Amino acid sequence: MYAVKTSAGLAKQDAYLELNQQLAAVLAGERDGLANAANMAALLYRALPSLNWAGFYFLHGSELVLGPFQGRVACVRIALGRGVCGTAAQRRETVIVPDVHAFPGHIACDSASRSEIVVPLLRDGRLWGVLDLDSPQPARFDEEDAAGLTAAVETLLKGSDLSRLVS
Ligand code: SME
Repeated sequence: MYAVKTSAGLAKQDAYLELNQQLAAVLAGERDGLANAANMAALLYRALPSLNWAGFYFLHGSELVLGPFQGRVACVRIALGRGVCGTAAQRRETVIVPDVHAFPGHIACDSASRSEIVVPLLRDGRLWGVLDLDSPQPARFDEEDAAGLTAAVETLLKGSDLSRLVS
């Protein structure tokens, strides 16, 4: 099995470099999209500090549908343009929300959540879904998280067949 190290003591950028090496090792030799997304959610949840939810939504028509995740039970369907996830998907850009209570239309799945980051899954001009991380800490996510998580998403998209997970 793979040892999951914490990022304690490392600068955030270095922690993401290490995390992305671990992710590449975990996904190596396997292209099943469901398995790889599940392992990526578990790795992120264990490796990144101060999270209460980490997981995926995949695109089905004009809706995002819940995929593999770690954390509390979450809402299953989110329309494009709704909430933080639907907004990031519609804009096709990463959305960082320092205070979820100040984001109009934020969908609260876990009342402990205070901040959130959503990274779209984009490859070859196609939207596959989003990666969503929630934190109980206000303003937990910044541009370094966005860069590190974008690299992680690229590793997933490059190394996985996600075609069964979207429609
Ligand atoms: N907060 C998200 C919904 C998904 S949960 O956080 C897991 C949103 O506003 O889209």
